[in-house]
Amino acid sequence: MNTFYVTTPIYYANSLPHLGHLYTMIVGDTIARAKRQRGVDTYFLTGTDEHGINIERAAQKAGRTPKEQADYVVSYFKKMTSEFGLDTAHGGYDIFMRTTERFHYEGVSELWRRIAKAKTPKGNDAIYKGHYEGWFCAPCAEYKTEDEYQKPKNEGDPPTCLIHDTPLDRVSEESYFFRLSDFDEALLSVFESRPDFVRPEARRNEVVSFVRGGLQDLSVSRLKSSVSWGVPVPDDPDHTMYVWFDALINYITAIGFGNEEREKVAGFEKYWPALHLVGKDILRFHAVYWPSFLLAAGVELPRAIVAHGMWLDPNGRKMSKTLGNVIELDILQRHFSIDAIRYFCLREMVFGQDGRFGYEGLIDRANSDLASGLGNLSSRTLTMISRYSDSVIPGRSTSEDETIAGFISQARDQYLSHFENLAFSRALESAWTVVAHVDKMISDAKPWDLAKDESQHQRLAEVLYRGAESLRWLSVLLYPVMPEASQAIWNQLGLEGSPAKLNPVELKWGDLKEGAKIGEIQPVFPRLDKGKIMSEINAPAQPEPPEAPQPPEAPTPHATEADAVVGVASYIEIDDFAKVDLRVGQVLSAERIPKADKLLLLKVDLAEEQPRTILAGIAQYYEPEKLVGRKVVIVANLKPRKLRGYESQGMVVAASYGEEGRPVIATFTEDVPNGARLK
Ligand code: MSP
Repeated sequence: MNTFYVTTPIYYANSLPHLGHLYTMIVGDTIARAKRQRGVDTYFLTGTDEHGINIERAAQKAGRTPKEQADYVVSYFKKMTSEFGLDTAHGGYDIFMRTTERFHYEGVSELWRRIAKAKTPKGNDAIYKGHYEGWFCAPCAEYKTEDEYQKPKNEGDPPTCLIHDTPLDRVSEESYFFRLSDFDEALLSVFESRPDFVRPEARRNEVVSFVRGGLQDLSVSRLKSSVSWGVPVPDDPDHTMYVWFDALINYITAIGFGNEEREKVAGFEKYWPALHLVGKDILRFHAVYWPSFLLAAGVELPRAIVAHGMWLDPNGRKMSKTLGNVIELDILQRHFSIDAIRYFCLREMVFGQDGRFGYEGLIDRANSDLASGLGNLSSRTLTMISRYSDSVIPGRSTSEDETIAGFISQARDQYLSHFENLAFSRALESAWTVVAHVDKMISDAKPWDLAKDESQHQRLAEVLYRGAESLRWLSVLLYPVMPEASQAIWNQLGLEGSPAKLNPVELKWGDLKEGAKIGEIQPVFPRLDKGKIMSEINAPAQPEPPEAPQPPEAPTPHATEADAVVGVASYIEIDDFAKVDLRVGQVLSAERIPKADKLLLLKVDLAEEQPRTILAGIAQYYEPEKLVGRKVVIVANLKPRKLRGYESQGMVVAASYGEEGRPVIATFTEDVPNGARLK
């Protein structure tokens, strides 16, 4: 049967959700939507990891029982999934798995029993009782070896965890052990025969060398007297299972392993094996321990384990609660659309490598790729259909269509192949070649001129059709990444149903029906005001009392250091600069204005729906015909101004020198698309 199962890690229920959690869910959700779109029966799991000493401690600190603590954190996770459109109601996960579920206890106990009866590949008992003594890090929930902790400065003090910088606990107690040391060869032969089992390759190599270095047996239980919050070891209630043992097994108990009722609701037989998405920090648990448990129990191994990198802050530092540099989910929610966040996460992080996340970067990407890119293409095309074609999809063309159909279907294939390899960033780059290509096709064809000439109306219709059909393709391709925006473009094209239901492999150029009425045009990605958003984000949390009005500033009596910098009148903040919207434009036409010997009348293409009319005081220095085709810099958000009966919609940027202020137009020596922003 054509089925697919994808999982995120289950998140610790001792702290509230943050960007790292949101990210893994976005990736899982995107993969699940892409599979469903292709008609694959897909199951998507996310959830919480609710046992262990950390949760017990967090509960104690908060004056709650461990279950109350877990419920409290889960309520925040569910709030997040609902607000970010990742829950079942929004077409997201199929199960929010909780390890405190009864069926989980049953399934875990069943797996334990199987392993306890099993032999290792080297013929020894897979589980044995022993004695463990070691340094244990509670926040990591694992014992640390010598190279994993910082030795104490003063003799007698405990060592500290390299990750958390907190003192380790000396733990010495009776414990059940899983004989991991017997699984090295079995694991290596899995890695060898299934090169895609652990991805990406660099991570696979790390895991292989870790296993080659020799494996130590794993303590898989703690005495109930030291950790009581967990699944009891079957037939030995004095022991509680090690939290990672219980947590990993969630992937199979969730779909019915060891519990018939659950099996009926989801289907272990139907959906297993899964593709596990994990952060690189928890790869070893998934790529070494988990397959070994499954090998011991005789259960099929996962489909693959795919590790992504970490989000760092804009300075490249690790994001952590301790450092206080995490991205706030409520800030994201307040200022950005879900789709912009999804797009940024998938476009900005090269899957497998670390990425940097900052609010400013998010605004820049949203403005350049979404507002000026896809959003602008959509509104420009639809507005022209409304204006020149009476809001009706015009008749499709014949001849030149083949070129664009070929281009777009090749880009689609590339997009899908990158997507299949989970190379989301590259996939999106391929999709954006379509945005740029169609944008250029429209700018080159100049529909606004074609509209003026009756004999060109068929050609105009063809250009508009191509724009609209390309948008239909883009909304299908981009649906898994940006479900809401894709649906919005789809609706604006006047299409029925949903891009979620169309398999991108089956897209056919020309399927967009001519004669259909387009929907109401609305901006899909409104431009974000960076200065405003950043000042709101950076504003102190508590509103400050209103300041008393200040008397006008007296002139500065002495020059300051800043004034001494040659040529700099005074400094501005980056936000002040961001207020000036500088764009790349291309001069389409230039002519002199009668009786105005200094002015040239320019038409400049900024990749908007229509070229802008701009008056520039350069007529004494530039021959109009020499300017045509030239790339220039335009102040695009300058208030329009009437001059000599024309409305000037922007300003050409030029250097000015000499006593007369001779203008020299700023330009580019490299190729750059119209509409690109200067920053
Ligand atoms: N409970 C375990 C997983 C058990 S799975 C059987 C756990 N939980 S966690 O809440 O600490 O982390 C869950 C996931 O969030 C991990 O995949 C981790 O990599 C990811 N992230 C946490 N911080 C992150 C970033 N800063 N960036 C990207 N992902 C990060 O580990």
